[in-house]
This record gives sequence, structure tokens and C-alpha cells, in this order.
Amino acid sequence: MSRTVGIAIFASGRGSNARSLLQACADGYLNARGVLIISNHADAGVHDIAKEFGVPSRTISRDQFEDGKAFADELITALKEAKAELICLAGYMRKVPPALIRAYEGALLNIHPALLPKFGGKGMYGLNVHQAVIEAGESQTGVTVHYVNEKYDEGVILLQRGGVLVEKDDSPESLAARVLDLEHRLYPEAVHKWLDMFAGARQVC
Ligand code: GRF
Repeated sequence: MSRTVGIAIFASGRGSNARSLLQACADGYLNARGVLIISNHADAGVHDIAKEFGVPSRTISRDQFEDGKAFADELITALKEAKAELICLAGYMRKVPPALIRAYEGALLNIHPALLPKFGGKGMYGLNVHQAVIEAGESQTGVTVHYVNEKYDEGVILLQRGGVLVEKDDSPESLAARVLDLEHRLYPEAVHKWLDMFAGARQVC
């Protein structure tokens, strides 16, 4: 069997997508292991999930640093020390520094709870996304896993799935719950696809 790939997960909140990725590693579905969880909030639920899975977690936020460069340097150093080869953003509510995007080009993914390129971009996060889907009168919505570039939600799509029907009486909350269920299945699948395509080709830097 080939070596396992080190995955770092960035999350700002409860971390249910982080859980689904770590569980997929634990189950052997992904030939990978969680090596580091990074949050911008010390009290984010994702730290408890990290503990549960025995993965180190750290709080690193922009406001701890004088400037963007020092912030990016700290993130990159932490990731390299942990031997992270793939970064998965999972409900990370901060902009990723450009230096980090460059350092992990092709190995930095995000999950978005809608069918991009619609319902993406600045302000399209959390319940806003589902509210916009309902207001637009869409009959269905879904989930997108994409590469991260310097523009919000505009990176190349790695995997996308629709089929979450928007019901007449849906609220943003009820729709979010059904989309989240799909997120938990699609992110591991997307990482599996990434591993199939790239794992052999990349080396720990
Ligand atoms: C998810 O819906 C994700 O798509 C979005 O933020 C939410 C995070 O949920 N970007 P969780 O922290 O993974 O539970």
C-alpha cells in the first residue's frame, strides 16, 4: 500500500466537515491522515473534534500578527512542520493569504454549499447562500469542492453534485441541513479523487 498523505484542515466553527474528513481517514476510505487543524478561533468546536481524533490543533489568526506576511509565514511554517501535503478549508471564514495559496497551489481545496459558479463570491457564506438559492427560485441546490485561488469561490471545480431539492416551505436553515448532509459525503469523495490524481506525484516539502 502507498504511503498516507498528510492533510491539514482549516475551520472557523463547529467542524462537522472536518469530522467527516477525519472519519474517512480513520475508516481507511482515504489513504491519508489528519496532521494539523488550524482555526482562527480559540473556542471553535473543531478543536474538540481534533482532540477526539488525536490530531494537533492550533489557533492562528490574523490579529495575532503585525502584518499579513508574518501571518502567512506562521501558517506556512506550521503546515510544513506538520508535513501537510493537502489543505482542506472546511468552513474557514477568513481569506487565505496569497503566499499560502502560492505555496500550496494545486493542493488547497474548499467546500462551498451551493452549485458554483452560482451563489458564490463575497458575502456568500453560511445561511446567506441558502437564502439566495431560495430567493432565486432554484428547484435544486448542491455542493461544490473547488481549488482555492485568490478570488472567492472562483477556483477550478474538483467535484460538484446537485440533487438537493428546494422545497416550497424551506427556510435557509432547513435547506442548509440537507446540503450539509451532502457536504459530509462529497468532501471525502473529492479528497479521494484528489489523492487518486496527485498523491503519487507530490512530495512532502
Ligand atoms: C459548511 O456548510 C461549509 O460548506 C461552509 O461552512 C459550513 C461549515 O460547517 N463553508 P462545519 O463547521 O463544517 O460544520
